[in-house]
Amino acid sequence: MHQDIQEILLTEQQIKTRIQELGQDLLRDYQGKCPVFVCILKGAVVFYADMIRAFDDHCEMAFMQISSYSGTQSTGNIVVRQDVSMDLTDRHVVILEDILDTGRSLQYVCDYLRNKGAASVKICTLLDKPEGRAPGVTLEADYVGFRIPNAFVVGFGLDYDEYYRNLPYVGVLKPAAYTK
Ligand code: IMP
Ligand code: MG
Repeated sequence: MHQDIQEILLTEQQIKTRIQELGQDLLRDYQGKCPVFVCILKGAVVFYADMIRAFDDHCEMAFMQISSYSGTQSTGNIVVRQDVSMDLTDRHVVILEDILDTGRSLQYVCDYLRNKGAASVKICTLLDKPEGRAPGVTLEADYVGFRIPNAFVVGFGLDYDEYYRNLPYVGVLKPAAYTK
């Protein structure tokens, strides 16, 4: 275990098993529909790479980068840094995200992609912190890997100021690690 990690919340094996189940859920709903899986960079990239391989049918890949966070706080100001490069008109879109917290980022992305004329837009998130939702945000994910308590977590793509994305598990940081 990495020296900055206090506790492992989800092991590599737990995540792997759950992703296979999510792949089956997506297959049940999207088989034959050639969905576009939109990866929200950078946090979702690790989850994304495993998810698309758990979906055993035709699909297409798209990438989008937004930013809203600084340190451990969501700023609520969402900026599109990289847009999807393909036409989404009449396509079935599934957004793959690392974590749903306040819900502001995904609310924004959902509306943004719907405005591009997608036939449907659904959300698949590795983690959900239900207690984190901002006032007035009613958005929920359609597919959830794990519901977790309201703590700041890192690993499996999730970062603290760009560190720890490469950890193969999801863990809680030691308080001392925040001084970096
Ligand atoms: P939301 O708009 O507050 O739902 O923010 C979602 C984004 O915030 C995610 O894509 C993450 O980048 C970041 N985020 C939220 N909670 C955590 C966490 O516990 N660890 C790392 N990043 C987080
Ligand atoms: Mg982040």
